[in-house]
Amino acid sequence: MKKLNLIVIMGGRSAEHEISLLSAKNIVTALDKEKYAITLVGIDKNGTWHLLDNEDYLINPTDPKTIALKVLPQKATILPYPERPMLIESAIGKCIIEQIDAVFPILHGTYGEDGTIQGYLELAGIPYVGADALGSSIGMDKVMMKRLLKEAKIPTPRFLYFFKGDKLSYTTISKKLGSTIFIKPANLGSSVGISKVKNESEFNAAAELAFRYDHKIIIEEAIEGREIEISVLGNENPKASLPGEIIPQNHEFYSYEAKYIDDNGARLDIPAQLSDKEIKACKKVAMRAYASLACSGMARVDMFLEKKSGKFLINEINTIPGFTKISMYPKLWEVSGLSYSQLLDELIHLAIERKQAKQKLVFSYAL
Ligand SMILES: Nc1ncnc2c1ncn2[C@@H]1O[C@H](COP(=O)(O)OP(=O)(O)O)[C@@H](O)[C@H]1O
Ligand SMILES: [Mg+2]
Repeated sequence: MKKLNLIVIMGGRSAEHEISLLSAKNIVTALDKEKYAITLVGIDKNGTWHLLDNEDYLINPTDPKTIALKVLPQKATILPYPERPMLIESAIGKCIIEQIDAVFPILHGTYGEDGTIQGYLELAGIPYVGADALGSSIGMDKVMMKRLLKEAKIPTPRFLYFFKGDKLSYTTISKKLGSTIFIKPANLGSSVGISKVKNESEFNAAAELAFRYDHKIIIEEAIEGREIEISVLGNENPKASLPGEIIPQNHEFYSYEAKYIDDNGARLDIPAQLSDKEIKACKKVAMRAYASLACSGMARVDMFLEKKSGKFLINEINTIPGFTKISMYPKLWEVSGLSYSQLLDELIHLAIERKQAKQKLVFSYAL
């Protein structure tokens, strides 16, 4: 069987550059070398694309704090020639891969998970793993995401949104959403710029902080309950894994510190301790959210199991979730019967399937 020419792209310009490298390392190791001819591309923090050596592409690969790309001198570019998408060495135009079969972008946040690189790959006519450009950009923008959830009548915490320059009043907002609220930049991840606010004196600083990261912010009612996550996989007929639970420890919520700094910041329960009825309800709401938010390929759907109502409320979706061996997305599949490398095969298959389905569409108007 002919091997598929697969490019794995890692790194990127977001704050989650290091997380991407950790995920990519696990993915590259687990990919079946009998099935894939793999080429590695690293995007540095300035956005430049570099070729990487397949055997030696990371500095401090086991330390999440100091892990970094070890780049080759050659810079790389994908040429957007849909008839024959190629990877070339930028400076001299030398072709490195003549026919790219698929790209696995393992990039998070801005310029990675937000539809920008997905749009570029779409233009280049290359199948790529994960949601398409539209699904990715919806997933990145918490306001757009929640507006669509609301339209589809999928439960989500009540929210308001504001732009820079809008007049903000804690009194007015707390009358609508309750005295404890969450303030977040609309487009970010990793809990950066997010505050839990309980009174007027905390409010202004929290809004100012969120506006430092984005021109648009979202303010939500605080939900008391459990944090449940579920992995969804597929295009037209997606399936959901068993759910898992995040239990923040010693932190008010699943903050940046709880996620990445404090080794004991949170416990993951995989699978979550839920009744059969709850599992069923949670899968159902996750699948509805996946479809309403134009997802394909994969997404991790995060929700709250609200204490007072017993209902699942969607918090957010992540279209390129963390992919280390201990990350929730692959772990949930593992306990649901799909191994890490089977999951990678399925994701690549879904990327190619989506491209083939799109190719069947008619793009010109014929009389
Ligand atoms: N409305 C809310 N009610 C209760 N907790 C929340 C709410 N919104 C966010 N949180 C807490 O903050 C964390 C980060 O918020 P989230 O919206 O998931 O941002 P990010 O995209 O940065 O992960 C969540 O995992 C949860 O612990
Ligand atoms: Mg989150």
